[in-house]
Amino acid sequence: MRQCATHKLKSGMVLARPLFDENFRMLLAEGVVLTPQYVARIKRYNFPHIYIHEDGTEKIVAEDIVGINSKRKVYESYKEFHPKEPRPGLAKSATTAKKSSAPPRLEYGAMGMMRRTTQILMDEVRSSSAKSYYPSVNLATDAEFNHSVDVSLLCVLIAKNFNYPDSEISRLAQAAFIHDVGKPLLKTQLGNLHRLDFNEEQLNEYKNHPRVGAELVDQDRNVDYRIPLTILQHHEHQDGSGFPEGIKGSKLAPTMDRPNKDVIFRLAEILAVANYFDNLIKGRIAKKLITPMEAVEVLLEKTPSWFNPFVTEMAVSVINVFPVGSNVIVQDCREVGLIDYGGVVAEVNEHDLHRPKVVLLFDRRKQRLATPLIVDFSRDKTSKLAYTLEL
Ligand SMILES: [Fe+2]
Repeated sequence: MRQCATHKLKSGMVLARPLFDENFRMLLAEGVVLTPQYVARIKRYNFPHIYIHEDGTEKIVAEDIVGINSKRKVYESYKEFHPKEPRPGLAKSATTAKKSSAPPRLEYGAMGMMRRTTQILMDEVRSSSAKSYYPSVNLATDAEFNHSVDVSLLCVLIAKNFNYPDSEISRLAQAAFIHDVGKPLLKTQLGNLHRLDFNEEQLNEYKNHPRVGAELVDQDRNVDYRIPLTILQHHEHQDGSGFPEGIKGSKLAPTMDRPNKDVIFRLAEILAVANYFDNLIKGRIAKKLITPMEAVEVLLEKTPSWFNPFVTEMAVSVINVFPVGSNVIVQDCREVGLIDYGGVVAEVNEHDLHRPKVVLLFDRRKQRLATPLIVDFSRDKTSKLAYTLEL
């Protein structure tokens, strides 16, 4: 299988992975031959790309870190915290709070449920063969949910690599999963407005969401103080240019024994990086989607002014810029005849995420090769690949 950009889909292509709608109902099954109607349907659901079968890529299997059944369970819990409609529980409290001007109330037991939910994500990471992070794409669930899951997963992978104990990873995963819980509770609803389109009043209101979210979570006296603290500081910057408090970072390694007084808390530093990266690749910072590779470059540009260099370095070491099934173009390699050839990532090299094993399918004129070429770029330290959706 390989990725195919939605705008490049054609009738006759065969779907390699099932697609699900926002309620986890299957939209199209694996093996379905695309018709014009199916292509139109896929475009309506805004999938950036899907996986198709293609000759020469039969052995390539892209897998999500979190399986669809676990994701469905996680979504049930997410909905309790992020209601779309007024309804009982936390949602009702939050909604009526706006009318009655009473503060939003945290439903009894909500945080316990959150802890159990993020445990599902941690278990999935533990049982997955994936040691690196890539965003999932086969689900048309609402963007905020996908963002929450993907940010949590990236946080868990970074924290694991800092050798944090499970209890600390769990706190970070919980904070990451609901880091924007303050947004629907703001007095001015920002809806789906892109942050570049905020007027001054909306921007000021937006800057309150970490505090509103932290105060909500802090209502549960059984919740460890580090969870609301992480939510409160997830938009703070090392140089003090962040919000809501504008505190600075220490730029020291985020070890468990590092003093955190008057500096950004270590878990918030991790959440800040994971959140910004995911927002970049999903078009929530600029108005266009950028590739994971480009997003990594942006992270590096904003380090150390915004992000803790130790955290950025760890994030970059776990972000897989070339996941299995993604399309690549050879930009440079020892065998110059292969430059500008296009292919599909077959196997990730865990020691060098930038140099996977690739099945080359197209020559530099985009003509199909009679026989696909398998090239292991881990053996070629001069090689450079570029991610593309335009194969
Ligand atoms: Fe946020």
